[in-house]
Amino acid sequence: MNVDGKEMRPIWFNTETRTVQVIDQRFLPHELIIEDLTTVDAVIHAIKEMYVRGAPLIGATGALGVYVSLVQDNNRGADDDYFKAECERLKAARPTAMNLFWGVDRVMDVAIKETDYDTRVKAALAEALEVVEEEAVNCRKIGEYGLSVIREIAEKKNGEPVNILTHCNAGWLACIEYGTATAPMYTAFDAGINIHVWVDETRPLNQGSRLTAWELGKHGISHTVITDNAGGHLMQHGMVDLVIVGTDRTTRAGDVANKIGTYLKALAAKDNNIPFYVALPSSTFDWDITDGVKDIPIEERDPDEIRYVQGLCDGKIRSVLVPPETSPAANHAFDVTPSRLVTGFITERGICEASEDAVMGLFPDKKKE
Ligand code: MRU
Repeated sequence: MNVDGKEMRPIWFNTETRTVQVIDQRFLPHELIIEDLTTVDAVIHAIKEMYVRGAPLIGATGALGVYVSLVQDNNRGADDDYFKAECERLKAARPTAMNLFWGVDRVMDVAIKETDYDTRVKAALAEALEVVEEEAVNCRKIGEYGLSVIREIAEKKNGEPVNILTHCNAGWLACIEYGTATAPMYTAFDAGINIHVWVDETRPLNQGSRLTAWELGKHGISHTVITDNAGGHLMQHGMVDLVIVGTDRTTRAGDVANKIGTYLKALAAKDNNIPFYVALPSSTFDWDITDGVKDIPIEERDPDEIRYVQGLCDGKIRSVLVPPETSPAANHAFDVTPSRLVTGFITERGICEASEDAVMGLFPDKKKE
């Protein structure tokens, strides 16, 4: 996407240096730092520490990580056991986003078939780059399908802004291009529809206020950062027309894991009759499970992410302690919104209700035998 006149993605393969490069998102919006990922350890560190984050981007990073595992240490990747073990290490980097396992397995399954080392490396890189391009196209399609949802509301509002609330960052930084939840916003804005976005700050790491606000601002989209707890109040006062969020893993029956706090937004939306949509590419569905609350593993991260807040101070990025030094904190990174609270899914194949029948209707190829 366009950042001050420069086309950017959050990950790419540098064909001159033949390295995988990423934006280190930890320091956005104040500093734009680019990192090379040349070893599996570096890829795992970047995923764990959230240089890269957001389900589709984690998937793409895992996919390119499989290529990295083959080239990091001369030709050790020719050894199947070593190669498989490195892929397993990649898959263990974060537990919730489905895309990581999907991306790693997809590239590994293609590459392992090649017994000649050079052919294996070429096959892994080609497949990983295909994952990257496919996800960009999927997000573009999510934007095209999601446009109808925003347009329908806009028509009823006669030129008044359509107020959309979103949580976390499900934008191009979390994907490759366009984003998932943000894709319909970009498409609607580009089509001349008057929109305004309420951006949940998304504590503790502030993906909303740091990343979504930055992205929307760069595209010229009107937005306002709000506290994570403001949504219910705004909904009660008619100030939210629509909620669109992304997801890290969604079951075949329609339960949605997303950034902590999403569930509370869905409850408030239900209570106020506000449509609550989840935008996702098919790589985020977990086709094997139905009960999200029971079966989706929820990542618990370092409590220091809650205890300390990072921001810009006197031109430098600094971190400050908020609670008493001795107070413990608990950092559950995601929650699960049951399908009954979800109005619909916006996918690369179209829009459907959040039910197993409807999801299988869009993805009949995923039906269980
Ligand atoms: O912890 P993060 O920043 O990786 O969490 C990201 C989210 O929760 C996003 O909403 C989700 O991955 C969807 S991204 C299109």
